[in-house]
Amino acid sequence: MRTGMNYFESNPWLIGENEFQTDWLGKAETVMCLGNGYMGIRSATEESYIGEKRDTFVAGTFNKFDDNEVTELPNVPDLIGMDIRLNNKRLDLTNGEVQGYQRTLNLKTGELIRSFVWEYKEVKAAFTFKRFVSFSEKHLLGQSVEIKNLSNGLDLEINSGIDGQVTNNGSQHFTEGDKALAEGKYMQMMPYTGTSNIFFVLSTVHQLVKKQDIYEETKKRIEMGRRKIYNRYWLSLEKNEAVTIEKISSIHTSMDKETAGQTLNEVKDLALEGLKSAREKGYQVLLASSAKAWEKQVWSVLPITIASNNFKDQLAINFAKYHLHVMTPAHDERMNIGAKGLSGEGYKGHTFWDTEIFMLPYFTFTHPKIAESLVTYRYLGLEGAHKKALSNGFEGAQFPWEAAWPDDGETTPVWGAADIITGKPTKIWSGFIEQHITSDVTFGIKQFIDVTNNQQFAREKGYEVILDTAKFWASRLEWQEDRQRYEILHVVGPDEYKEQIDNNAFTNYTAHWNISLAMKLYQTLKTEETVIFEKLNEKLELDRVYEEWQEKINKLYLPQPNKEGVIPQDDTYLSKDILDLTTYKNSSHVGTLFHDYNLEQVNDMQVTKQADVLLLLFLFEDLFPKKEKLINWNYYEPKTLHDSSLSLSTHAILAADLGKLDLSYDLFNQAMNIDMGENMASSNEGIHAASLGGIWQMTVFGYGGVRCLNGKLRIEPHLPEAWHRLAFGIIWQGNPLDVTVTKEQMIIVNQGTKDVEVEAFGTLHSVSNELIINL
Ligand code: BGC
Repeated sequence: MRTGMNYFESNPWLIGENEFQTDWLGKAETVMCLGNGYMGIRSATEESYIGEKRDTFVAGTFNKFDDNEVTELPNVPDLIGMDIRLNNKRLDLTNGEVQGYQRTLNLKTGELIRSFVWEYKEVKAAFTFKRFVSFSEKHLLGQSVEIKNLSNGLDLEINSGIDGQVTNNGSQHFTEGDKALAEGKYMQMMPYTGTSNIFFVLSTVHQLVKKQDIYEETKKRIEMGRRKIYNRYWLSLEKNEAVTIEKISSIHTSMDKETAGQTLNEVKDLALEGLKSAREKGYQVLLASSAKAWEKQVWSVLPITIASNNFKDQLAINFAKYHLHVMTPAHDERMNIGAKGLSGEGYKGHTFWDTEIFMLPYFTFTHPKIAESLVTYRYLGLEGAHKKALSNGFEGAQFPWEAAWPDDGETTPVWGAADIITGKPTKIWSGFIEQHITSDVTFGIKQFIDVTNNQQFAREKGYEVILDTAKFWASRLEWQEDRQRYEILHVVGPDEYKEQIDNNAFTNYTAHWNISLAMKLYQTLKTEETVIFEKLNEKLELDRVYEEWQEKINKLYLPQPNKEGVIPQDDTYLSKDILDLTTYKNSSHVGTLFHDYNLEQVNDMQVTKQADVLLLLFLFEDLFPKKEKLINWNYYEPKTLHDSSLSLSTHAILAADLGKLDLSYDLFNQAMNIDMGENMASSNEGIHAASLGGIWQMTVFGYGGVRCLNGKLRIEPHLPEAWHRLAFGIIWQGNPLDVTVTKEQMIIVNQGTKDVEVEAFGTLHSVSNELIINL
């Protein structure tokens, strides 16, 4: 019995499976998903099975099926599927016998390989399927299928092309579109999205190779069915003879920046030209250039190496980085990262606070250009944020809980899963009242400016977001006459198991921080950057709102620790019933509490879904003394179910800060296993993007001890018992720093041109070349 994914102790770049089970299709499709930030393709097998989710997404191509649904990334016609028949028997691994099955994703090169021998009745053949999505040419993907006949005579039939009979769980986002054939072999399909009117050009071509020769004389026929265009090939193989089918495909859309404004026909022609030259290069050459791009753009940039008793730790960081780049549309600042990346229909491709708090730090500290694109998306989202604020009767910029196209505004669905008691759909309150997203966006932007020192972004975009979000918060505060203070009532905090609560600590503190930050910025700009100040003053009426900020800031209620030192998560949390959570905490599935209770009941218990107060203590660590952190850890962690994948990494970092390294490492392991581990259903809907950002954060912030606090860099590493050495890099204000940590020493090498100030264990150091600190 297989217990999860397959790993290779000798090679931390490989992850795969060595057994085929149709019950586990979803997990394998997600975990071994391919992509390049432009497109993402779930790794459904070439032949189809019941239970598969055959999804291809192109970043940013949102479409709304109709007014009853929210906008989502449409599932694009499939280019991967193939129907293979051997002596008229459909290749189907649930029939006959399968030997030597292996499916492995090479994270380093981005190539997925599946191989096995299939024997069914008189048929026996060896198969090797290979594929990649190009990291060097974002429109391209390649496949190669080798079939070697091991039986006596074999008649092969292969049907392969473009299949538009795909949906998003039943919602069909495309018109059928035209189909075209050029030179008898280049197939194209050109569907449009139903409401957003985006055109797609999907192109593909096949090439058969037998005994190293291009094999043209095979019998073939083009077929065009409904939403389908494909080639049918018939050929015979002698015993031990093999044939390889190379399929090179491409995807273009009317959203592509480089062809903006071009007509469908122009893009179609261009796609055809591109495909012809790709076909000439062939699978191997295209793969090599893609692998080279992975190396140059990802693996050689500030590499992370972990010497640990557990080889899976290195695999985890490689896995996290691979997926972070697969899911991130680095090419276009109008797009952002979905909570499931481009690897599944879950969360519809929407962007959440997951970006700023969990994934963005990786890019901010190591790939500032990509980070700039991600924060620019929020600047472009100001229009949608104004729309949202206005419709709720507020001023300024209120960012949507779920975001799609920058100016869409709120895209969170209103109704979710059925309530187990009433049987009625549950209302999703997040889109209405999970408002901390607005300060989370500001947090990400502030951290980006501090870490990169990108003044141009700050002046042209970032400052405006900081000021405009503060304007929202000021208008959001509610004066309580009896208590003589401003409060924030009726919200959902990070803990989504508590709805419609008052004064969520995380929300109030971060709103306070956001307004205070804007006030400081107002003063600095007014005295030091008068031109920018005037421009923003005119746009945002800063002089007026500054008075409001001054009036309100000191009267904004910040929940204070009770006499035991516990910061109340909200006004009523601490007075609710306490439940024994042992069974639920020990369960290998999340959300099991809801098998016994509904949300209304959970609302009345001291049960927390994910880090809430504790996240506040991590993000704003200098506001709270260590003793208070420990008290709150002891209070909240036992009440936290970690039912969101956003929870474990925060807890692991905090545990490391608090000196609980064994516990921290245990949480690190649990966190990496969310996608890589044994639960074969955990990733069905798509990868847990925030948890992958969390793997990087646990490594660099948790054990590497890196923090950006008030614009200053601090590095105070502490390795868990199992780790002997950790080497990583960050770029601090343009200066690459290589950091190597062992149990005895930390060495920081400044590869940049300017001295870098680093605080470590209470001392400020100026690092021009190298700093060695004994631990
Ligand atoms: C979590 C949110 C998160 C969302 C998307 C939810 O389950 O509670 O914090 O933003 O998933 O990942």
